[in-house]
Amino acid sequence: MKENIIKHEYLVDKTSRNKLNKHPSFLIWFTGLSGSGKSTIANALEKRLHEEGLKTYSLDGDNIRKGINSDLTFSPEDRAENIRRIAEIGKLMVDAGLITLGAFVSPYKKDRKLIENIVGKNNFVEIFVDTSIEECEKRDVKGLYKKARNGEIKDFTGINAPYEIPDHAALTIVTDHLTIDEAVEQVYSLIKQKINHE
Ligand code: PPS
Repeated sequence: MKENIIKHEYLVDKTSRNKLNKHPSFLIWFTGLSGSGKSTIANALEKRLHEEGLKTYSLDGDNIRKGINSDLTFSPEDRAENIRRIAEIGKLMVDAGLITLGAFVSPYKKDRKLIENIVGKNNFVEIFVDTSIEECEKRDVKGLYKKARNGEIKDFTGINAPYEIPDHAALTIVTDHLTIDEAVEQVYSLIKQKINHE
């Protein structure tokens, strides 16, 4: 079947959109434990880039799992499929000229490697939001850690499912002793460097 699908080349492509927008497009990927601050940092970063007139879009675990990925659980297989679909969506958004931000637990190295393969190495910026499990559990904003400890949630990352620390993240933000503004500043500097060098 697959051999009968032939790729269609568009006349308007990423390069022409980037030229029109006057900035490159790529995927900024935040990985870390639930409650680590991924979404908070990604939201604040997007606001800052947006206010500078850059074209952006955010994809977030909870929101995507309420829509296109509502059929998926938190088993390793379903997490892999969750990440694969988001990577494909991210690729389309990057191709559409958007600086795309993704905030997903994405606990498995092989799934994060797949994102890089799908969107392309140069279009992928991996940010590890390194907040300790103790701190995430202390915050427990959604009450999920308590439920996981009580056995109400199986496969909960950090409690009864693994989180594999990235080896080659472009940036590791150790949030335990940082304010949100300080954390955002770190990633903002990195992203501005990338934008200015492309
Ligand atoms: S994954 O691992 O990348 O597929 O997860 P993701 O799509 O980012 O979804 C994570 C959010 O779902 C909530 N939640 C869980 N997280 C981890 N493990 C289990 N079992 C689980 N069940 C529900 C949780 O609110 C996550 O949101 P964040 O924003 O990360 O706290």
